[in-house]
Amino acid sequence: MSDGYYSSKKTDDICDDVCGQGSKAAATMSRLKCVLRGFDLRTYLLLFLLMPFAIFAIYLHGQKFTYFFRPLWESPPKPFQTIPHYYNDNVTMQSLCTLHGWKIRETPRRVFDAVLFSNEKDLLTVRWKELYPYVTQFVLLESNSTFTGLPKPFVFKSNKDRFSFVEPRLTYGTIGGRFKKGENPFVEEAYQRVALDKLLRIAGIEEDDLLIMSDVDEIPSAHTIDLLRWCDDIPPVLHLQLKNYLYSFEYYVDSKSWRASVHRYSPGKTRYAHFRQSDVMLSDSGWHCSFCFRYISEFVFKMKAYSHSDRVRFSHYLNPKRIQDVICRGTNLFDMLPEEHTFREMIGKMGPVPRSYSAVHLPSYLLDKAEYYKYLLPGNCVRESQTEFI
Ligand SMILES: *[C@@H]1O[C@H](CO)[C@@H](O)[C@H](O)[C@H]1NC(C)=O
Ligand SMILES: *[C@@H]1O[C@H](CO)[C@@H](O)[C@H](O)[C@H]1NC(C)=O
Repeated sequence: MSDGYYSSKKTDDICDDVCGQGSKAAATMSRLKCVLRGFDLRTYLLLFLLMPFAIFAIYLHGQKFTYFFRPLWESPPKPFQTIPHYYNDNVTMQSLCTLHGWKIRETPRRVFDAVLFSNEKDLLTVRWKELYPYVTQFVLLESNSTFTGLPKPFVFKSNKDRFSFVEPRLTYGTIGGRFKKGENPFVEEAYQRVALDKLLRIAGIEEDDLLIMSDVDEIPSAHTIDLLRWCDDIPPVLHLQLKNYLYSFEYYVDSKSWRASVHRYSPGKTRYAHFRQSDVMLSDSGWHCSFCFRYISEFVFKMKAYSHSDRVRFSHYLNPKRIQDVICRGTNLFDMLPEEHTFREMIGKMGPVPRSYSAVHLPSYLLDKAEYYKYLLPGNCVRESQTEFI
């Protein structure tokens, strides 16, 4: 055999396996044809073995794939102008207002705390206990429809006894759902927020009263609201930077929650909303505890009911055993990648949320009733089995 044959053998193993069987016919086959046959085999393998796997993998992880490239297709929002927040128990309100560059008022503003309620009974209690000393009127609206158009009972109404401590300061309203099939959940949400505006007027809100706009699970700290009601010249619309927690106060995620806001009410102008409404934000103003539920059934309900319910791509996501496992590992209920705008932050946040062992600077009522709210405190990720129903 010639040297030429040997060198081609080294560089073309597949061809040799397929074609170099030593028959006379194979020997006469042109080299090009031989290479093509090798290519056919590889294509064949790819199509019939790898493609189904690839399609299956894209089906399972396609969303992750697009999310991973978020930094390329979505630019980060304009950064907020963050106002430094000064606070210590032992510093007078006069000094605190001055430190923020504001003047102190003769009398504090009246404060209205308005929420759309779904089923978060425990967090509502913690919230109202935290804010109670400073709130003039608690305004709560609930619908018998979730944002995704599923029927739900009037949970607050049937648990009103639990909230008797706010009775004299409560304006409560219900609204019937529209139950439009297949509609974008944000439409039902907007509809409910408009109704909440009406309820606020019924509650007697007036010019320059302080209005807190936030979800039930976004809890401003009491001292933040006290500061804002006592100081003059605060911005007319101020977002609150809250600490993000997941499942309980055991999993501290980051400090990037910004949707909650406080408004100096302006009749005819102020509209209840949950999106960005200004560029200023007050640092370290409270807590945002997402999916902080006592019972697994409440996780299932929320996963189906909330505005991003399209994230439940597979029914096994709703399996109670899986949910319990996810809670104790600090991983994602929807198996999603972190929603970040830079690769550095996204990669930094991949994997489970590390446990925190701190229960310092949490809403005071959590510690007053630590035994009852055990599941929200560090070291208690296992949810008790359900004994009551909503
Ligand atoms: C709090 O303030 C008072 C009066 O200004 C002072 O006597 C006291 O030592 C302060 N306590 C702390 C813990 O700083
Ligand atoms: C929802 O509430 C409205 C008003 O209270 C009522 O008319 C309607 O029948 C309720 N729908 C469901 C499905 O409960």
